[in-house]
Amino acid sequence: MKLANKNPLKLKAWKKLEEHFKVTKNIRIDEYFKKNILRAKEMSCSWEDFFIDYSKNKIDQKSLMLLKDLAIEANLSEEIKAYFSGEKINKTEKRAVLHTALRSFSNEPFILDGKDIMHDIRVVRDKMKEFSDKIISGEWKGFSGKPITHVVNIGIGGSDLGPSMVVEALSFYKNHINTYFISNIEGDHVREVLKKCPIESTLFVIVSKTFKTQETISNANTVKKWFLESTSQGSISKHFIAISTNLDEVSEFGIDQQNVFPIKDWVGGRFSLWSAVGLSISLSIGYENFEALLKGAGSMDLHFKNAPIEDNIPIILSFISIWYNNFYKSESEAIIPYSEYLKSFPSYLQQASMESNGKSIDRNGDLITYQTGTLIWGATGTNAQHAFFQLIHQGTKLIPADFIGFKTSLYGETDHQDKLISNFFAQTEALMVGKSKNDLNKENVIDELIPFKTFEGNKPSNTILIEKLNPYNLGALIAIYEHKIFTLGVLWNIYSYDQWGVELGKKLADKVLEDFESNTNNTHDKSTNQLIKLYKDL
Ligand code: F6P
Repeated sequence: MKLANKNPLKLKAWKKLEEHFKVTKNIRIDEYFKKNILRAKEMSCSWEDFFIDYSKNKIDQKSLMLLKDLAIEANLSEEIKAYFSGEKINKTEKRAVLHTALRSFSNEPFILDGKDIMHDIRVVRDKMKEFSDKIISGEWKGFSGKPITHVVNIGIGGSDLGPSMVVEALSFYKNHINTYFISNIEGDHVREVLKKCPIESTLFVIVSKTFKTQETISNANTVKKWFLESTSQGSISKHFIAISTNLDEVSEFGIDQQNVFPIKDWVGGRFSLWSAVGLSISLSIGYENFEALLKGAGSMDLHFKNAPIEDNIPIILSFISIWYNNFYKSESEAIIPYSEYLKSFPSYLQQASMESNGKSIDRNGDLITYQTGTLIWGATGTNAQHAFFQLIHQGTKLIPADFIGFKTSLYGETDHQDKLISNFFAQTEALMVGKSKNDLNKENVIDELIPFKTFEGNKPSNTILIEKLNPYNLGALIAIYEHKIFTLGVLWNIYSYDQWGVELGKKLADKVLEDFESNTNNTHDKSTNQLIKLYKDL
């Protein structure tokens, strides 16, 4: 199928949305509630353990209807089919985008280049299960005969953020293995992690799709050197595992063939936690829990693939993003999980979303004249309330926010849970309703303080309320955002699955390093030359 590649500004629905925006932009959200007593019900939906309330938005049924027309004009349904059927929708790298196949457990084939890839996926899953079972049960022994107690994942970007976020999020389900993550090329951090790891019982999992990433390979080499200071080459096979597409580089590094878990080029780095890249997850929570994570995502895949646009959760959430980003011109979106378990979820989404949709060239190779890729940021509630919520409530910027929470406390801490969730709900209410001069008068607030104590309100939010944090629901939650990212890419007419923008800095870092080594400080711009001179005392 040829992708539609339509400039959204030229679509009929876009023009209608512009007209509709002019008419509705100043209507307050609480006005909508007054006009339509069914709004809360009409603008919310349930799916499995999820309840999504998008009624607290500056949006009405007509905006949603026009956004649906936009999606139809942009051929969204066709694009979803192309995405799931293994077409090479990552055009600039000539690759399919098939992380959804990794979480399929049906008998349906996933065909790529005429071949069903499900067989290879099942082989890797079996290998992950077998290996995880051996490590967790203690059957796998380190070089001195001791079982493995520590796992260190060495990877960066998608080879780190997904696994580390999930391991942290599912720490309630964690076994006895101590799991650490080394990502940054900061020797001090490598040393801090190694300090905690007994050499005889630590497993190093080197994760790099390309096996060429400077940070990962340097860190892996440092760790290998540290390991070989007190052991022999023959012990490497008991302690080093590699996950990669680049099998030649892996064997060059010295990792045994049987210790390699292959991944394929149709898995994008930032969507790879579902593949063997998720081995640290499976080692930390057991393969069965890892499989539940996959199944939750798989169930959301089916919802996204089959639900009509008006009931489709990722699509609705992407419509809301388009409305704020392109019409209200808001620049960012806050992600506020009311769960410390999800502390790293905003950073995980930063890569997933901003590396995907931070693009200024459209699918035709033309410069874009509209806004794409929202800035994603956030932190957990209630901490965030005591940090940056002031700006969301009373600042000058419009910041749509996703509030995410779980109904159940995993340890049955109901008193805390009630307080946590009351804060969650109260914030979304305060953001929308605000506090008027009248309210303050009734409280006898003195006149000169009234402007400062007034809350304009009318600040939008989505609520994602989930029964319980478990592997299955976490998988589904991540998949919602993945498909939202896909949908936004289609509507913005950009390619979401390449990331050329990260290349230049990597190349220049190599050049700066060369200059450090040769004590040269005249090959860059004047500012950079000056920095090199300063750093190297030239
Ligand atoms: O620099 C960006 C990036 O290419 C990401 O897309 C990727 O997740 C990360 O680097 C790590 O790449 P690799 O897994 O090949 O080491």
